[in-house]
Amino acid sequence: MKDKIIQILKENSKNPVSGEKLSEYLKVSRTAIWKHINQLRQEGYEIESLPSRGYLLKNTPDVLSSIEIQSGLKTHILGNKIIHFDSIDSTNEKAKEYALQGEKEGLVITAEEQTKGKGRKGRDWISSKGSGIWMSILLRPDIAPCQAPKFTLLAAVAVAKSIQEETGLLVHIKWPNDIILNKKKVCGILTEMNAELDRINYIVVGIGINVNQQENDFSEEIKNKAISLFEVKKSKISRQNLTRRILTNLEKYYLNFVKKEDFSSILKEWKELSCNLEKEVKVVLNGKEIQGIAKDITEDGALLIENREGKLIEICYGDVSVRGIYDYI
Ligand code: BTN
Repeated sequence: MKDKIIQILKENSKNPVSGEKLSEYLKVSRTAIWKHINQLRQEGYEIESLPSRGYLLKNTPDVLSSIEIQSGLKTHILGNKIIHFDSIDSTNEKAKEYALQGEKEGLVITAEEQTKGKGRKGRDWISSKGSGIWMSILLRPDIAPCQAPKFTLLAAVAVAKSIQEETGLLVHIKWPNDIILNKKKVCGILTEMNAELDRINYIVVGIGINVNQQENDFSEEIKNKAISLFEVKKSKISRQNLTRRILTNLEKYYLNFVKKEDFSSILKEWKELSCNLEKEVKVVLNGKEIQGIAKDITEDGALLIENREGKLIEICYGDVSVRGIYDYI
């Protein structure tokens, strides 16, 4: 109902719409309309009441609601359906619930706040209200499950490119998919998959971007590792524009990959954006520490490390620390 009211007010941005007209059109009482208008105001919509003329929309807040994101979104699949929550445990968990209920690919879950945001390896992901982009995208690619790790790299390239295009800031990717700004983490991606031996049921790509937090918004614990776009750009960034751009770029890379089976161009861009390659790195794998120089990424998305003895080791998963990037000096 609120979305419908906003849509009508947007379509009549020059002319006030009376409560009577809204109630007739939406087939609810004028009191109900008045209550919804008040709720919208609480959500940050600036709606003027002009005596005996009606309601006029003066300003919209930077929320990640479906009506706001879909207006001006030119994708074919991603974002065809957007479900927005003011507060939720985790957008990835919600997207997986919908996936199991049979929702189509392209569904996007967004939230203003996550109370149990999840990071990789069971870590928490702090997702404070209104300051970041917390969203999950449901995909159902018709490819073999062994190809799935490529989605992680694909998503990282799409997000890094979108941040650069939208803000002009120079970001890098730390293998496999951390996005780094000024040597700190500005974005994390959590890809989760449900598959059988020979087919993928669904993939959920969860993207968390620190957008408009100020330095003091981060806890002491993560302050020296985390950064927001705002801290570097020094001006507020539109979460709506960045979200639209990510969906557009992600769809482009995704379709290129699943329809044309072209991963080499993604890999090339990943390498250009990488902050690992030819750097000294350290990775802990099954309790064993491997140290060496990151030499390359394989066609399957694994990291190739040359150890001190000159032997090449292929790393398919794990946490990589790069000398000079937040936790490895
Ligand atoms: C990481 O770097 O550890 C991955 C962080 C992923 C965070 C995002 S925020 C949206 C989505 N929902 C979650 O619970 N996690 C991902």
